[in-house]
Amino acid sequence: MAALSIHHFRQAKQTGQPLVALTAADYVTAQILDQAGIDLILVGDSLAMTSLGHSSTLPLTLEQMIHHAQAVRRGVERAFLVADLPFLSYQVCKEQALFSAGRLMKEAGVNGVKLEGGYPAMVETVAFLVQRGIPVLGHIGLTPQAKHQLGGYRQQGKTPEEAERLRQEALNLEQAGAFALVLEHMPADLAAQITQQLRIPTLGIGAGPGCDGQILVTHDLLGLSERIPPFARAYANLRQVIREAVEAFAEDVRQKVFPPSYPCGQTVLSNK
Ligand code: KIV
Repeated sequence: MAALSIHHFRQAKQTGQPLVALTAADYVTAQILDQAGIDLILVGDSLAMTSLGHSSTLPLTLEQMIHHAQAVRRGVERAFLVADLPFLSYQVCKEQALFSAGRLMKEAGVNGVKLEGGYPAMVETVAFLVQRGIPVLGHIGLTPQAKHQLGGYRQQGKTPEEAERLRQEALNLEQAGAFALVLEHMPADLAAQITQQLRIPTLGIGAGPGCDGQILVTHDLLGLSERIPPFARAYANLRQVIREAVEAFAEDVRQKVFPPSYPCGQTVLSNK
């Protein structure tokens, strides 16, 4: 199975083949996503919330990100693997960004990094990383690391001024060499316009159907999150599946019917 490279994304944009991207924070999830054939796996800093129980992405450290990215790397053979640069591991200066991105590539073997923001200093940082051989996935619109600056997890780009700023940020990030852009929580028509004006693909999350592909947080997709954002869709209810399995096991232990008389190791789909 050939591993996907950065060229896959340019090609998808040219052929109009929709791109599929999801997050992973552990080995087994990464392996399942990879075997399902998705294009890009993101070790998103949303893992601070979904896997570590924080109320935002801000507390995640670079060390924690490296630890999770290493586990994900072991599960991925084909998909293009990207890790988020955690809050304050890249905003201080472009040299700090290079050092953090370099650690993720050397110590976790990721193929590229994602960072948030399209303001002028961040565009410079993106160009600095790309010139040094690091594939960068940009991220504009709702950028969760800036939640306090944005006043919460609100939709962005609603006024004509904000929309124009986002259009310009997208062009600047493309110019800086980003290989693709995440467009998060913005009006669908704005995301579609941005998508049309770029030669690199866009991955939408809460940005409507006019993007070149879609990215979701896997915990939301699988119904593992307690609450999911209004723009996500749960394709399964794993919270309930897991709870029912645990309750069935607990019941069997309490009724002294586990361990059973049949050979252990087989899957019990129902004990009724
Ligand atoms: O951290 C994350 O999960 C993200 C989303 C855009 C998928 O950045």
